[in-house]
Amino acid sequence: MSANIHVRTSDKKAGSVPVVKVDQPLTLVIFGGTGDLTRRKLLPGLLALFDRGMLPEQFAIVGFGRRDYDTDSYRALMAGEVRAYSRVVVSDARYETFMQHISYFKGDLDNMDSFVGLYEQFKDVEAFPASKVFYLSTAPSYFGSIISSLRKAGLVNRPEAGKPSSRVVIEKPFGHDLQSAYDLNQKVLRLLDESQVYRIDHYLGKETVQNIISFRFANAIFEPVFNSRYVDHIQVTASETVGMESGRGAYYDKAGGLRDMMQNHLLQLLCLVTMEPPSGLAADAIRNEKVKVLQSVRPPSPEDVEQNVIRAQYAAGTVDGEPIVAYVNEDRVPAGTRTETFVAAKLFVENWRWAGVPMYLRTGKRMKNKATSISIQFKVPPLKFFRTLQCDDDICDFSASEPNVLTFWISPNEGISLSFSAKRPSMQLVVENAKMDFQYDETWDVDLPEAYETLLMDIMRGDSTLFTRSDEVEAAWRIVDPILDHWRDRPEIPLHLYEPGTWGPLAAKELMHEGAAWVNEE
Ligand code: BG6
Repeated sequence: MSANIHVRTSDKKAGSVPVVKVDQPLTLVIFGGTGDLTRRKLLPGLLALFDRGMLPEQFAIVGFGRRDYDTDSYRALMAGEVRAYSRVVVSDARYETFMQHISYFKGDLDNMDSFVGLYEQFKDVEAFPASKVFYLSTAPSYFGSIISSLRKAGLVNRPEAGKPSSRVVIEKPFGHDLQSAYDLNQKVLRLLDESQVYRIDHYLGKETVQNIISFRFANAIFEPVFNSRYVDHIQVTASETVGMESGRGAYYDKAGGLRDMMQNHLLQLLCLVTMEPPSGLAADAIRNEKVKVLQSVRPPSPEDVEQNVIRAQYAAGTVDGEPIVAYVNEDRVPAGTRTETFVAAKLFVENWRWAGVPMYLRTGKRMKNKATSISIQFKVPPLKFFRTLQCDDDICDFSASEPNVLTFWISPNEGISLSFSAKRPSMQLVVENAKMDFQYDETWDVDLPEAYETLLMDIMRGDSTLFTRSDEVEAAWRIVDPILDHWRDRPEIPLHLYEPGTWGPLAAKELMHEGAAWVNEE
């Protein structure tokens, strides 16, 4: 049993988030202009920024696509969706003004003439401001060739003092293994300076994720206990209730949960919660510390993979009375596929701070709840005193006392909670678990920005702190590659099945060391 104590930092602080603004005129070209990400995240995110007055007076958004639209029909295509997916409600007039900044460029990614044509359009400085961002939201196989065509066409140059420099944003996945990520990095960095490259991991744009750094390093009381002396283990969970949304099966089946979520999002969360204090808040100072964590993770040996990594796939079942098809029967998924939709791993960060502390990571589709959280479970306090407590004729019960757990709730219900043992109000000495609970929406009266809004703002303002550097991406693949290799070489390694609407297979529970269990399974 546990009691909740709600922590209010003060009375709810009414919401004006300081407004930052992109101050340079800017053009944003989106390759993949008719794609899902553009419709669901990028344009709705830009609309929200526009509505808040954060975009410059002079900005142009160009959707680049192969399909046969012109600007009018492209705007019409986007019309309903952009508004539907945006978290802000804007008036018709305001929405119209926003749409006036959008145009369409019909082009072919394989044809250099399209890039030359784009360059020609950019000569019209009235319509296209000089500072440019190219957003690569296409199939990953195009990333290298688009950048090379942008360079050849003169649309992107290396930075020069005094001139606005162009930036290139690269969506995930960045490579499908270490070698392909390395090759792509080599190609990109032959053509561009690292400072111009923004590799997206949208988890880094989530408000609570950013708060991990402030929480750890702007408070004196937590950091001294963030180490192997006090911490028993750390858990990172990203569970989803969705399965394969329409058309996603084809991509997902080639990726699987390990590549899709763990290589990027989960390892990034692990970095933020375990890294050393950075020397400053500049992008590279933070990224230097994150890369050190990744380099300190012991790449799993074949034995580690067998003992410490669990893969599983959802079977057919029923959730809330609705029938759910098995992953193998999802649309655009090959029959008999052995791609994992769930993965759990026990990793070790072998440095002075964390040696010997298990780091448990898990992610899956079709699980019980949609929840992303990081929990730091502390060691059990020495109980000698309690064991020898003489209680004679009274009740003294410490059996419900549990270890302290500090949880960062990344989504939904963003917040931070700390569980602790407390004496239950009574004449007897009975200890139970209680919880201090901080919720963003109870403390601040503001809407949290969507991750893509934050990231788009940072790209436009030239701040790369929340984007992954080339060495980080490679260091993350160094951890994941041995797992992929071993699964490929030893297909007999079990692929567990789990019921949809659950927390995954039993094997994931058994991965935990004695005395530990996945928390927050509500
Ligand atoms: C994406 C993955 O990166 O993250 C998806 O490709 C996943 O498979 C998504 O559904 C989850 O993001 P969020 O923000 O909803 O937790």
